[in-house]
Amino acid sequence: GAHPAPAAAAASPASTLITDIGELWTLDPALDDAPERQVLHDAALVLEGGRVAWYGPAADAPAADERVDAAGRAVLPGWVDSHSHLIFDGDRSAEFEARMAGRAYAAGGIQVTTDATRAALDASGGDRLEQLVRARIAEAVAGGTTCLETKTGYGLTLEDEARSAALAARLVADGTLDEATYLGAHLVPREFDGAHGRPGAGAYVDLAAGPMLEAVREQAGDLLRWADVFCEDGAFDVAQSRRVLRAARAAGLGLRVHGHQLARSGGVALAVELGAASVDHLNHMSAEDVDALAATAALPVREDADGRLAMDAGPTVATVLPACDLSTRAPLAPARALLDAGAVVALASNCNPGTSYTSSMSFCVATAVLQMRLSLAEAIRAATRGGALALRRADVGHLAVGARADVHLLAAPAAIHLAYRPGMPMTAAVWRRGQRLHP
Ligand code: NIG
Repeated sequence: GAHPAPAAAAASPASTLITDIGELWTLDPALDDAPERQVLHDAALVLEGGRVAWYGPAADAPAADERVDAAGRAVLPGWVDSHSHLIFDGDRSAEFEARMAGRAYAAGGIQVTTDATRAALDASGGDRLEQLVRARIAEAVAGGTTCLETKTGYGLTLEDEARSAALAARLVADGTLDEATYLGAHLVPREFDGAHGRPGAGAYVDLAAGPMLEAVREQAGDLLRWADVFCEDGAFDVAQSRRVLRAARAAGLGLRVHGHQLARSGGVALAVELGAASVDHLNHMSAEDVDALAATAALPVREDADGRLAMDAGPTVATVLPACDLSTRAPLAPARALLDAGAVVALASNCNPGTSYTSSMSFCVATAVLQMRLSLAEAIRAATRGGALALRRADVGHLAVGARADVHLLAAPAAIHLAYRPGMPMTAAVWRRGQRLHP
């Protein structure tokens, strides 16, 4: 189909100086031992060739082709949202309303979205679905998100997972999306309910760990780097999840896990056992679960080419999803306890139609501060550096010289306004790879 081309790089100035920055959060990894030096005042930043070329005191800033006056406002690295499910069609607002009236969340709602998504994939070659996903990503960018992961998982047939993966791969190829994840093991679809002679869950796991995974790899190639499983009662048990993840690793994918969202169902131990890059949700956690994740924090990362880190080395990041916790009225994930124990924590939106229909990372940061009791610096770090590590990327989540020029200019003089003024529009401008995307 005819898809809008990404804004031509040639239209951007060769270099941009952003100056008169009241508070500049570089989060420069070289200064991790001196965090007080990772936030500068009266600072400037130069973007060139899609990378950060310079930062320092505004008075010392070099000239550039374009000059942007931050007028004393704060600048952060763009948010890194390491968990979303944007490839969907259909509406679940009635389910949400019923939940607010007292009904519990159950994984079965995924089938409703799957039906609508399959229909959208069939209609006009999936063009409508692609437009929906692009619009959702634009919405995330307008809220300061500059690095985004999204998943398949609402197709749940070989063909529909492959088509969802192909869509994600197209978005990665043109730079709209950063990371794509195969989530064929999201729910056992009704065709595999084992009733009336139909195949059962075991046959679906065989498919998801075998031909479906192969079809996804064939469609998306190396543009899709991850596999995820929903390890939960009502979805996939530990043995089934392990089977899919091992097959995915053998196929060259990095591993992620949805764990302990509805119960303490074993996803955390499985993620640690397999060296997954991240385990996400974490609403039902014992002290041992917290310690198991903290124990991975010291595992060394390994640098590959292009600012990427090896996908099978390093900590299992504890990814908390505060917007999801609120939307499902779940017990909040113990982000405070995880940090106190020494775990690496990431904050992500989990934008999806069932449990968290928001892509606002600024909202997640506000919630993490106000309700999860993170300090502002901890929450910002989790929403930038934490997400980057969960995606095994060294090129995003900070503004060191050489980093991807992903910049979030806040509509406030200091980042504390994110939590101090919750729900207020906080994004003044956004650049990705040095290109201004918003407004
Ligand atoms: O991350 N937990 C599994 N997947 C999504 C919810 C999907 C849905 O309900 O449609 C989540 O919360």
